[in-house]
Amino acid sequence: TRKPLIAGNWKMNLNHLEAIALVQKIAFSLTDEQLEAVEAAVLPPFVDIRSVQTLIDGDKLKIAFGAQDLSAHAAGAYTGEVSGSMLAKLGCAYVCVGHSERRQYHGEDDETVGKKVRQSLNNGLSPILCVGEELEVRDAGDHVSHTVGQLLAAVDGLTAEEMDKIVVAYEPVWAIGTGRTATPEDAQEVSAALRKAVADKFGGETAAKLRVLYGGSVKSANCASIMSKPDVDGALVGGASLDAEEFAKLIKFPE
Ligand code: 13P
Repeated sequence: TRKPLIAGNWKMNLNHLEAIALVQKIAFSLTDEQLEAVEAAVLPPFVDIRSVQTLIDGDKLKIAFGAQDLSAHAAGAYTGEVSGSMLAKLGCAYVCVGHSERRQYHGEDDETVGKKVRQSLNNGLSPILCVGEELEVRDAGDHVSHTVGQLLAAVDGLTAEEMDKIVVAYEPVWAIGTGRTATPEDAQEVSAALRKAVADKFGGETAAKLRVLYGGSVKSANCASIMSKPDVDGALVGGASLDAEEFAKLIKFPE
């Protein structure tokens, strides 16, 4: 059985002092048991990660942390970039790769996303690989082939053992920050197709272990119904993860 992952993508919000305050509030809203029923993770901006790590490690909080992006390169003359090895050294478990905002606003194509997956794995980080279609693609009925195509391009050349480290997040672009959530059936349709593509390429055992998250306007009010779908194994949460009370409720969704 797959343990659900509830990951908060803070995007470009909160300085390091606000980051500490948010993690503290999340921690004292929840018991260790609640934090162990699911896996909870936060993905702060780069400059907050050290502060979040010090708090989480110092108080042995059962909250994982990671980054929102990493460089496609290992090291060297790449001004402004942050490498996978730097993130690993800080204790990051996860790193978001291929978020639609990176694809849209920073021109990341499948090839770049694939290189970032490679850098994540080379440094022992679990990529949260984001895929998802724009509204025009869904309206044309091509959402399944589009998202499966993004997934297969990003994991090309991986071994099954490497695939075991990957988390996939299905984030329909039209549902991000819009308040327009996919229906549980929409999330299930694509999640099942993504899992099947992994089964076809890497085998049934790898596919059975794969966690597929849903992202796009997830809130405490819609979380449980989406998570009840058999192929949906957690959530990648934007806006609602900035509110400690809301995020704590999301972590408590199985109750
Ligand atoms: P919202 O939850 O704000 O819609 O953002 C979703 C998202 O992009 C998470 O990565």
